[in-house]
Amino acid sequence: MKLKIKKIINKKNKSPLVCLTAYSKNVSKILDKYCDIILVGDSLANVLYGMKNTHQITLWSMIEHAKSVKLGVKKSLLVVDMPKNTYSNSKLALKNAKKILKTTKCDAVKIENNRKNFTIIKKLTSSGIPVMGHIGFTPQYINKFKAVTYSKKDEKKLMDDAFKIQKAGAFSMVIECVSAKISKKVTESLEIPTIGIGASKFCDGQILVTDDLLGLSGFYPKFVKKYTNLKKIIEISIQKYRKDVLKKKFPNKGNSF
Ligand code: KIV
Repeated sequence: MKLKIKKIINKKNKSPLVCLTAYSKNVSKILDKYCDIILVGDSLANVLYGMKNTHQITLWSMIEHAKSVKLGVKKSLLVVDMPKNTYSNSKLALKNAKKILKTTKCDAVKIENNRKNFTIIKKLTSSGIPVMGHIGFTPQYINKFKAVTYSKKDEKKLMDDAFKIQKAGAFSMVIECVSAKISKKVTESLEIPTIGIGASKFCDGQILVTDDLLGLSGFYPKFVKKYTNLKKIIEISIQKYRKDVLKKKFPNKGNSF
């Protein structure tokens, strides 16, 4: 097992994992100083490309963004989401995961759980490809964002899935939009770290979509804490620039040759 992956696993029960998404170098360069894991999430479909879900984002788009993100990453573990339909069988999954790792130089891939892909995860991990699992709300298999509620039966299914993904060799697992009670139970039961998004403080780490926490995306469900309003900050700067151009205050002597 790679040292970087071991370090992530070893943080379980010791220190919370700080994780965020990035889609480009300028952002990943800032995050790298503060994060354990940077994820090139397929949420870029919604956030950057205005798609109504993540289902149509291509492998090519994920790879191009991951190549940019990698330019800003020195120390964090870099994980890339495998888009829907790029891992529908073991052969295809292995081919595409290898392509992602080779072309982007990332450390691992993430696969969303659909209750059928445990053997696919196993195929990748036994071929030496580190895999992060993803349970709970899995946007690739659901059309619209909605809060998930879990019955006792669903809770058991979620727990079963978590164990199967761990057994298949995943090194960590995102838990999305799951109640505090269940995410605590899953986290305490697993040996690998859980990374929550809308899944309570009981997870071993937390992840958010960076554009959401910066107030850039316009998507602020209950689980997002908006740490700043970057949209406003950018707007003020652009207004100042516009004013300067209109009043011929920019460029001034110092900005000219
Ligand atoms: O695509 C994504 O950004 C994700 C995170 C929200 C976990 O899967």
